[in-house]
Amino acid sequence: MSQFTTGDAGDVFSSDAAFDALYPVYIGALSAIHWTPLEVAAKAAVFLAPDDNARVLDIGSGVGKFCIAGAHFAPGHFTGIEQRTNFVKAGNKVARQLGAQRVTLLHGNFMDLDLGAYTGIYFYNSFHENIVHDDALDEKIELSSELYERYTGHLLHELKQMPVGTRLATYWLSITEIPACYKEQGSYFGDLLKLWIKEY
Ligand SMILES: C[S@@+](CC[C@H](N)C(=O)[O-])C[C@H]1O[C@@H](n2cnc3c(N)ncnc32)[C@H](O)[C@@H]1O
Repeated sequence: MSQFTTGDAGDVFSSDAAFDALYPVYIGALSAIHWTPLEVAAKAAVFLAPDDNARVLDIGSGVGKFCIAGAHFAPGHFTGIEQRTNFVKAGNKVARQLGAQRVTLLHGNFMDLDLGAYTGIYFYNSFHENIVHDDALDEKIELSSELYERYTGHLLHELKQMPVGTRLATYWLSITEIPACYKEQGSYFGDLLKLWIKEY
């Protein structure tokens, strides 16, 4: 059952095709590779947001699919940070249309955000396009292996600073070294989705 209080959520969460059809065609066409499938979003969101106090951050939120689906399937607040303006605009339009009040989609670079304000982090391999350019979403932003190293280093550093109990969900992870202070809690969808809790 939808956790949204207003709006026309309808059957859009019944399939990825139905959800993706809310967006312009060029965005829906990116979904199979670049946006989280609904069943993965549901599993990750329920873990990341066990109660109303949860504050979940999606690092590289694209068109907001994880955040919007997360708020449908779980309690808590879902914030996304995304560097491409057109994706943020498209996501906010869909969030408004569905009445997704527990969703905030921000435009910016995650490096400028205080991760300490969140109790859970979702990460779908967002920096990958910097090292495999064939997988780039578009040509709107600068991509480089230097940026990959800088973003990855910053994320791993920030993860180590988070409080004990922080929840982390990783999907299609290419960063091989999640800090040892995070203990894996489970692995799903052919090991693509991994759930972690910071233990020390
Ligand atoms: C694979 S998509 C994932 C989208 C979304 N998390 C989902 O699951 O539906 C990764 C997104 O991360 C964004 N991204 C990459 N590096 C970023 C950065 N440093 N700051 C903010 N967004 C970033 C990209 O623009 C892209 O839209």
